Amino acid sequence: MLQDRFGRAVEYVRLSVTDRCDLRCSYCIPKGFKDFAEPDDWLTFAEIERVIGAFVRLGARRVRLTGGEPLLRRGVVDLAARLAALPGLRDLSVSTNGTQLARLAGPLKAAGVGRVNVSLDSLRRECMAEVTGCDSLPQVLDGLKAAKAAGLTPIKLNMVLLPGVNDQDVESMVAFCIEHGFILRLIEAMPMGDSGRSVGYLDAQGVLARLRARFDLRPQTVSLGGGPARYWATADGRFTLGVISPISQHFCATCNRVRLSVDGVLYMCLGQEESVELRPLLRAGISDADLQQVLRQAIELKPERHVFASAPGKVVRIMAKTGG
Ligand code: GTP
Ligand code: 5AD
Ligand code: SF4
Repeated sequence: MLQDRFGRAVEYVRLSVTDRCDLRCSYCIPKGFKDFAEPDDWLTFAEIERVIGAFVRLGARRVRLTGGEPLLRRGVVDLAARLAALPGLRDLSVSTNGTQLARLAGPLKAAGVGRVNVSLDSLRRECMAEVTGCDSLPQVLDGLKAAKAAGLTPIKLNMVLLPGVNDQDVESMVAFCIEHGFILRLIEAMPMGDSGRSVGYLDAQGVLARLRARFDLRPQTVSLGGGPARYWATADGRFTLGVISPISQHFCATCNRVRLSVDGVLYMCLGQEESVELRPLLRAGISDADLQQVLRQAIELKPERHVFASAPGKVVRIMAKTGG
């Protein structure tokens, strides 16, 4: 079991398999951004399998493929199958923008992926075009249909709250989730990189209060996944809401995760810089035992909490680098 200095068990690895993306969400990748990792620096599947294997031997139980858009990494289904086969791993999931799901939902399920979280900020086509930089909604909706048909459930829709852009879309997203059995998650934008800082901020608590006035939402004690969302549900169970509020009510005290970037940097916190470069060690032929020791030491660097609210310009790397 990996435990940090604050007594938190680290059991969840978020794995960014690419920092590239076919969309340009306003809160994620700045327009014109070009500073992506070089392909020679991408961890190979064998290298990823070694690192994740070491984590699982040390007690990690959950792995999430993220990006960038993880489903753009060539061979990602094979990678998923290799990770799913690691003895001890309980929860293999993907966070995706949904554009490739129509094609890949079935193969991912067959490879052993359990569930997907899909970014969807609005059901209005022009709003999604504004947020993502292209006319993405039809493709994402096709992807969601395929994910549901393939049984990649429960499906969570990640909606980043954007003042003046999609705050009026929450109720239609609720109706859509009730119709399809999706879980809606309201996310406060985090000030990472230029894009994350420029989109403004909407307090999720206000939106939650608005929804509670309309729906009989009750707080849920069981967590639905391994992440930081706090859940609410109607008594009849037809609608479940997750609130991810890193700014208004941070959840760092129960943080259980670390992040591995596509080029092999292990980051201890989304909102801090502490990190360890694993790629040079892997390429210098580090043994499994030494790798496990490096991971144990890395966890010692995990900071107590992020600094988004107190130092909003501090984290300069973009979200796609470490996968949200
Ligand atoms: P499950 O609970 O396992 O379904 O996943 P998740 O909610 O952890 O993953 P997802 O990729 O869907 O992330 C949803 C949102 O939560 C994104 O905006 C992430 O940036 C944010 N998030 C996830 N983990 C952390 C974290 O440790 N700290 C902060 N500040 N935000 C996080
Ligand atoms: N703040 C909050 N969430 C973000 N995401 C991307 N950038 C940000 C940001 N600046 C979310 C995406 C995706 C998840 C992995 O991270 O919406 O659903
Ligand atoms: Fe791409 Fe996801 Fe970032 Fe949007 S949030 S630009 S879909 S990586």
